[in-house]
Parts: sequence; structure tokens; C-alpha cells
Amino acid sequence: MTRSLQLAIHASADAAGMSLATRISHLVDHRPDAIIGVATGSSPVPVYQGLKRLVSAGLDLSQVVWFALDEYVGLPVGHRESYRCVLERILIRPLGLDPARLHVPDPHRATPEDVALAYDQEIVAAGGVDLQILGIGANGHIGFNEPGTPFDSHTRVTELSSRTRLDNARFFSSLSETPGMCVTQGIATISKAGHLALIASGKAKAAAVAAALLGDVNEDCPASALQLHPSVSVDLDPEAALLIDERKLGVAISASINGH
Ligand code: GLP
Repeated sequence: MTRSLQLAIHASADAAGMSLATRISHLVDHRPDAIIGVATGSSPVPVYQGLKRLVSAGLDLSQVVWFALDEYVGLPVGHRESYRCVLERILIRPLGLDPARLHVPDPHRATPEDVALAYDQEIVAAGGVDLQILGIGANGHIGFNEPGTPFDSHTRVTELSSRTRLDNARFFSSLSETPGMCVTQGIATISKAGHLALIASGKAKAAAVAAALLGDVNEDCPASALQLHPSVSVDLDPEAALLIDERKLGVAISASINGH
């Protein structure tokens, strides 16, 4: 298998986001109805802000179809921290997009298990994800695939690790309000995307990024599955790249520090 890994260390998280947003705009120029996988969390926010700037400059995203990675189970319908609401707030409304083009697993529509099963079929029916934006958890999770998740996993109902639940409690008024269950695309589902675009910033992510790109490929670090994918890009700020050793990586860092 030919692998393509483009790793870029940018001057800031905003520059990393703008770089990925620009590459997404090239994809959409070439394919206006591209299917783009979207992530929540703080990491991808600069990508959506970058896309907003590009839309203001004339980029047309109106035909794009968006698929979310995951959703909490157990929140009331319309809760502001549900990933449907978060993505509408940080992506759909600011960019003037049609919310009907955003697919998010809806655990209220049927049993969460049936919703998970149907979600994989929805992605396939849409033609498959062309580019999947990924953040990374401090424990190496992608989507809500926690350490120990098999690489052949599909979209399913699963539990958040206590670490992730604690990390995400900052969005809720208390830990007890923070959901412990979710529907998430599996590692196999994510890996079917044509291109995986990981974005990370901050020193809290440095160890997870290094384990994902340089560590052993195994289920202890779900993001190490990226090493098995033929087309991956990684956009980092200097802090998230602190533990990346280019010699160990075995590929040249394609754009070293991008000065302004
Ligand atoms: C959540 C999401 C992940 C995301 C992670 C990291 O757990 N399910 O998709 O990558 O948070 O979030 P942040 O970018 O805020 O650190």
C-alpha cells in the first residue's frame, strides 16, 4: 500500500485550521458535492472559522454533505451540548449552511443501537466520506473510540472512558450532567474515508499525537489506526508537535513552521 502522510507544523492553532480549511476548499472546488466528516471539540473550531473566511471570499459550500463522527446518548432533545446543536452553532449557522445537509446520529429517533446501525448505511448510501476531519483525545481517542476499541469496529453505542468524561465535563454544569454514553463511528467506519485530516493544538495533545504517529499500531491508541490509512494529513501547532521527532517519523515534515 502506498501511504501518503503530510505533516505540517504551523505557527498557531489558527494557522493550522486555515491550512486545513484551504485544502477543504480545494476539494470542494473540484467536487462541489463532497462528503465531509466533521468533528466536535475545540480542535476543529479554527477549521470552521477558516472555512467561514473562505465562504465570505466566495467559496460555495452549499452542496457539501456533512457527517458528524459522534453524538452523546442521554441528553434531552435539543440540549445545547448535543453534538447536533454544537455543530449547528460552530459550523452550520455561521457559514449559512442548510442544517438538513448535516447528518448526526440521532439517538432519539429509534433505539440508539438501531440508530448506530442505520448511520453506517447512511454514510455508504451518500457515497462515503471524502475527507474526515479528526480531533484527538488526550488518551488517543478519535470520535469516541476509546483505548481498547477494535480497529474493525463500526458505528455503535459505547461508553466514554472516565478520562474523556472528565475532559468533557467542562461543557456541562457538573460531572453528573455529563453523559457517559454515546453513538460513535467506529475505527473501521472512520478509516473508510478517502482522506483523514487530523488537527491538534496545545501541549495536552503532544503525547497522544506522538503515540498516534510514532507509536505502536494497536488498540491502546485508537488514533494509531491512522498509520494504516493510505491518505492522512496532520496539522499541528508547535505545542502539539513537541514530541514529534522527524527522524523517527520517517517522512519529511512537508511544511515546517509556517511563519506569518
Ligand atoms: C470529544 C470528541 C472527539 C474530539 C475530542 C477532543 O471527545 N468526541 O471527536 O476529538 O473531544 O476534543 P478537543 O479538541 O476539545 O480537545
